[in-house]
Amino acid sequence: MKDHSGAAPVTEGIGPWGMNLAGIGAALPDQVLTNDDLTEKIETSDEWIRERTGIGERRIGGTTSGLSLEAARKAIAAAGIDASEIDQVILATTSPDYRLPGTAPAVAHELGLQCGAFDLQAACSGWVYGLVVANGLLGQGMKKILVIGAETLDKMTDYSDRGTGILFGNGAGAAIVERTDLGQDPNGGQLLSWDLGSNGEFVRILYAEHGDTMLMDGKEVFRQAVTVIRHSAQVALDRAGLTVDDIDLIIPHQANIRIVEAAWKKLGFSLDKTAMVLERTGNTSAASIPLALDNALENGRIKSGDTVMFIGFGAGMTWATAIFKWGTNAS
Ligand code: UT7
Repeated sequence: MKDHSGAAPVTEGIGPWGMNLAGIGAALPDQVLTNDDLTEKIETSDEWIRERTGIGERRIGGTTSGLSLEAARKAIAAAGIDASEIDQVILATTSPDYRLPGTAPAVAHELGLQCGAFDLQAACSGWVYGLVVANGLLGQGMKKILVIGAETLDKMTDYSDRGTGILFGNGAGAAIVERTDLGQDPNGGQLLSWDLGSNGEFVRILYAEHGDTMLMDGKEVFRQAVTVIRHSAQVALDRAGLTVDDIDLIIPHQANIRIVEAAWKKLGFSLDKTAMVLERTGNTSAASIPLALDNALENGRIKSGDTVMFIGFGAGMTWATAIFKWGTNAS
C-alpha cells in the first residue's frame, strides 16, 4: 500500500498540466421501477410522466458504496490501471450510506486504498464540482484521481408523492481522471473552462430534513434550473473563448427533458448533440452526468479531440459547467 501519510505533493516540473478521462464506468441496481408500477401508488400515468419529464423508468435498491464500487472497478478496468495507482477518491453524493462518516473512505478501503477520500455534497452538480476539484489536485502533483457520482435516492424519495416520486432513482458513474503533461503531449485532454455557482436563497425549493424524504417546489426548481443553465453554460463558453458550434457533445444533468429543451432553445443548443439516458434512469442526481457520459462513450458519440460540455444543476441551488477537450483516448 502506498504511504499517503501527509507526503507533500510533487509540484516541481509538472509544467502546464492537462487531464484525461482515462476510464469511465457505470452501475445501475437491478430492480426497475416503471411508470406503470407507480400508477399503483399514485394517481398518474405512464403517458403523463413521459410527456412532462421524459422519464420511462428508474432503478431502485443497492447501496451508495456498492454502486460506487461497481462503477469504480469498471472505470479502473477501462483505464487499464491498477487501483493502487489512485491518489485520491472524490465521491459526489447527496445520499451517503451513513449520516456519519462519509462513504468515500469505505469505497477507497474496498479498493485497497488508504489515500485521501471524501464525499462532496453539491447535489446534482456534484460530479462536475468533483471534476473541477480533481483538476486542481492534478495541478498540485497528483496523477490519478477517482471521481465518482453515486446515489441511492430511493431512501429519501416518497414514491407516494406525485411531485418527487416520479422523478428519482439510483445509480453510479465513475471516472479515472489522469494528469497529462501538456508540454509533452499537446493533444492530451484538458479542462478548457468551468463555472461553479450557488444561490442559497433557494435552499427550500428542494431539500430534505435529516432522516426525512425530499420536499420540492417543482415549478420553481424548473424555472431556476432553466435560468442557471443558460447563465452557466454561457459563462463557461465565454471563458473558453468558444461558441455553441465548437461543442461536439453536451452532457447535462438528467432531471427533466423539458428543462433541457427550454434551456437549449435560448442557448441555440441542439438536442441531437445532447447525451440523454433519462428515459431509463430517471433523475439520479450526482450520478446522472457520468451515467450519460458512459452511455455516450459506449455508443461511440465521443471521438478523440472532441469538445464536451458537462452541465450540472440542482438543489442548493448549485450549478456547475465544465468544458472538456477529450484527449487521444476516445473511440
Ligand atoms: O435535479 C432537479 C430535480 N428536480 C426537478 O427536475 C423538478 C423540476 N420540475 C418538474 O420536473 C415538474 O415541475 C414536475 C414534473 C415535478 C411537475 O410538472 P408540472 O408541469 O410542474 O406539474 P404541476 O405540479 O404544475 O401540475 C400540473 C397538472 C396538475 O393538474 P391540473 O391542476 O392542471 O388539473 C397536477 O394535478 O398535472 C397534475 N399532476 C400530475 N398528473 C399526473 C401533477 N403531478 C402529476 C403526476 N401525474 N405525477
